[in-house]
Amino acid sequence: MPILKKATAKKENSMQSQDEMLLPKLPVPPLQQTLDTYLRCMKHLVSEEQYKKTKTIVEKFGAPGGQGELLQKKLLERHEKMENWVLHYWLDDMYLNNQSALPINSSPAVIFAHQQFQEADDQLRFAAHLISGVLDYKALLDTHAVPVDFARGQLSGHPLCMKQYYGLFSSYRLPGLTKDTLVSQKSNVMPEPDHIIVACNNQFFVLDVVINFRRLSAGDLFTQLRKIAKMAENEEERLPPIGLLTSDGRLEWAKARAILMEDSTNRDSFDMIERSLCLVCLDSPGGGELSDTDRALQLLHGGGYNKNGANRWYDKSMQFVVGRDGVCGTVCEHSPFDGIILVQCIKHLLKHMKEGAKKLVRADSVSELPAPRRLRWKCSPDVQGHLASSAERLERLVKNLDFIAYKFENYGKEFIKKQKMSPDAYIQVALQFAFYRLNMRLVPTYESASLRRYEAGRVDNIRSATPEVLTFVKGMEDKRSALPNSEKMQLFKSAIAAQTNYTILAITGMAIDNHLLGLREMARETFDELPDLFTDEAYLASNQFILSTSQVPTTMEMFCCYGPVIPQGYGACYNPQSEYILFCISSFKNCPETSSSKFAKAISESLMDLKELCSRSSLTSTSIQAKVEGCHPATKL
Ligand code: COA
Repeated sequence: MPILKKATAKKENSMQSQDEMLLPKLPVPPLQQTLDTYLRCMKHLVSEEQYKKTKTIVEKFGAPGGQGELLQKKLLERHEKMENWVLHYWLDDMYLNNQSALPINSSPAVIFAHQQFQEADDQLRFAAHLISGVLDYKALLDTHAVPVDFARGQLSGHPLCMKQYYGLFSSYRLPGLTKDTLVSQKSNVMPEPDHIIVACNNQFFVLDVVINFRRLSAGDLFTQLRKIAKMAENEEERLPPIGLLTSDGRLEWAKARAILMEDSTNRDSFDMIERSLCLVCLDSPGGGELSDTDRALQLLHGGGYNKNGANRWYDKSMQFVVGRDGVCGTVCEHSPFDGIILVQCIKHLLKHMKEGAKKLVRADSVSELPAPRRLRWKCSPDVQGHLASSAERLERLVKNLDFIAYKFENYGKEFIKKQKMSPDAYIQVALQFAFYRLNMRLVPTYESASLRRYEAGRVDNIRSATPEVLTFVKGMEDKRSALPNSEKMQLFKSAIAAQTNYTILAITGMAIDNHLLGLREMARETFDELPDLFTDEAYLASNQFILSTSQVPTTMEMFCCYGPVIPQGYGACYNPQSEYILFCISSFKNCPETSSSKFAKAISESLMDLKELCSRSSLTSTSIQAKVEGCHPATKL
């Protein structure tokens, strides 16, 4: 395991620019270590027969002079040459080669607290403050003044890579016929963008935020947003809802885009959107309730074509939604940055807005500002056909989502810390326990682990379905064996220890998923055929993440959620707070094996059982201690 140097003089360093800081390169784990861990991770998740087959394949791959050694050597060379040896392989595999529609399948959402907008101007005022916050944050990014983050929790104190922040307002995901491309404004010769796109009634407007070298104030922005809202009301001027196409599968969208690109008006409109800072979507009332679950749905998919589903442009990395009914938040294209970066940025925006809201924003600009411009589209009958199919597919996707935001209120992080356990490991064990309760088996599980301790680091996977957790959940559920509490507690502790150890392995760059991906991609470049290891059923199954989980802690009034990554899977995003834990569970209705509400209920029951186990075992240990001290525990109270 590589030894990372802790940042000294943390306080003084916190404003230090990332440019001055040298982070270590992400290591390539030893080949044999990865192969052994892979076998250990899969042994209890596949049949005995399959395991035997897989073991033989893995041994052949890892044998001296075998394919594994050659590929490992090439990966080490790549590591030498590149800033981050896995980044591009990972980006392609995780996002750019994935042709699923972005809403639900890929783009996470952050939901703000419900806002009370009495009148339409309140909605626009909120949007104006939000845009003003974006400009403020962008200025910090441009001057490299965003303070460097430091790791918290496990192995705390290390400085973290800040590169992802620079993708927040300068990235665009272009759909492609074979794969998508992540375009970065930074790498272009084009000037920095100084406009945002406002979506309203499925129309798109260019809002310049710098006019005559002057950044527009919140008051100016409010004035301009009012003009946009008025223009969007004009039914005669209304153009087809082109944004709908961006909600479709990537291949379908790429095909429709190619047709639209034949016309120069459309090319200009694309150019404005692609080079914008972000989108602000002024949504119409969604019509549903305003619970956490309903607001999350509005953010995840906009409610379908008849609601706000077409008032979006999913390729743009940051889309801020400000709904007339007070439903607000962000939906983001995930490839340029991870959830933690998004949350940090939004924290800044909400703080800026809180401060700005104290000042009264009036629509009284000193100078007469030029009116924002509506983006024009020329649509052939072919494009109309694409629009109709995109609308239908979005509708199906929306209807198929089974989602619940569930707040577990019995206890939170503090209780877990008092048990001297890692809250994250504890929650992961609870998720496994809940899944086992419902299905009597464990499945390949993904938990994102940050690699930002390393240069250009993104994430790797903590495989939480450990053999230790299987033994534990069997011990808890197997009514026949009826283990004594002390033994159950021992099994629980060893499940927590296994999870914590894997977490440390992952955040220090020693997990197996990125490494196996690197070996596979290197094999593609090296051999005519993939080695058996990567076509083996166990390997294919190991990448079907029925449970896709992620901790996204937020400290202010917001929460994060996302969809499942496979049709028969669950998405489970959790937000542990001191006294409660928020879970956002997603699955698909057309999968008979999943149910988000059942899973949420099972999580709640598992957490209650774990608490009872901890309480009983602490009672037992108090009794033992009290006996040693020669008195009954009750007499000590
Ligand atoms: N006893 C008491 N307290 C403990 C403990 C123990 N045995 N183990 C941990 N704790 C404390 C920690 O010190 C920490 O305290 P803090 O809240 O004061 O900082 C707290 O409990 C949380 O630690 P833990 O639950 O172990 O988790 P973590 O914060 O280290 O997080 C990961 C673990 C894997 C979630 C984190 O490393 C990570 O990678 N996060 C990024 C996830 C991500 O990328 N999500 C978005 C994907 S798009």
